Amino acid sequence: GDGELCLSRSLVNSSDKIIRKAGSSIFQHNVGWKINSSLVLEIRKNILRFLDAERDVSVVKSSFKPGDVIHYVLDRRRTLNISHNLHRLLPEVSPMKNRRFKTCAVVGNSGILLDSECGKEIDSHNFVIRCNLAPVVEFAADVGTKSDFITMNPSVVQRAFGGFRNESDREKFVHRLSMLNDSVLWIPAFMVKGGEKHVEWVNTLILKNRLQVRTAYPSLRLIHAVRGYWLTNKVPIKRPSTGLLMYTLATRFCDEIHLYGFWPFPKDLSGKAVKYHYYDDLKYRYFSNASPHRMPLEFKTLNLLHNRGALKLTTGKCV
Ligand code: CTP
Repeated sequence: GDGELCLSRSLVNSSDKIIRKAGSSIFQHNVGWKINSSLVLEIRKNILRFLDAERDVSVVKSSFKPGDVIHYVLDRRRTLNISHNLHRLLPEVSPMKNRRFKTCAVVGNSGILLDSECGKEIDSHNFVIRCNLAPVVEFAADVGTKSDFITMNPSVVQRAFGGFRNESDREKFVHRLSMLNDSVLWIPAFMVKGGEKHVEWVNTLILKNRLQVRTAYPSLRLIHAVRGYWLTNKVPIKRPSTGLLMYTLATRFCDEIHLYGFWPFPKDLSGKAVKYHYYDDLKYRYFSNASPHRMPLEFKTLNLLHNRGALKLTTGKCV
């Protein structure tokens, strides 16, 4: 309705403002950036007061037994039964235990990656984190192919794999997962009701095909802890996006974090259209009331951290 249009317009305007204000520094993303190691350590220490990514990145087998009933994190009135298959796939210990890396890439899904030629650079990092099972092979030159950690919201099954309605959808999914070898597959299964049937399907396919992926399911407290950290830093984010969650977790494991594919704006700095996702035709949902995310605010924050040397944002070409 009209209300929504108004809201959309004001959000577009405020994104424009963010781009304009950040513009001069965004142009500088590739020149003169230097890591600020003491700031990196300080941020890691502060985040550790809210969460320990080693532990909160996943629940473990001993957290539950099959048949346990849990409340959804963002929908406390609804419940989920821990099935046998889900329990079989819970890791014995955190898949990130004692893992440390010099440099990491967190790859968001913005269309800004198209024509970036960032593939080689992304793959050169010691640990590469990707979101929502985004396809890579067809886009290798721009996004690379290395995936050590990949997230999958349950909604991806519907969105990218036809809800597993026919055999070819399921085959495509199994093929995608088999390419991951033994990387971590991170499934936020306890957030909101809705995807539980899909998660069950995913679990069944992994077990049936003996896929090597290391499944992980974020702890029940992760999202509240992440929100708490950003809130105390005056960044009021109701529901952090997957990309911001990944950056927050990565501060525990990575000395240098490089972000690619973060650009929640429909135009680039020269006014050229930018797709929401580099690989599909999804629209900019957060311009409507429907989206729980505040990606432009998140971007502004990440840009600030870039300018201070806490992380490196790449929004242009990698050459
Ligand atoms: N992203 C971005 N700009 C875009 C699209 C995505 O900065 N135009 C970042 C966001 O941090 C986002 C991440 O890339 O969380 C992964 O993108 P996507 O798979 O689209 O995540 P969403 O489904 O939009 O967010 P969520 O999974 O949290 O619902």
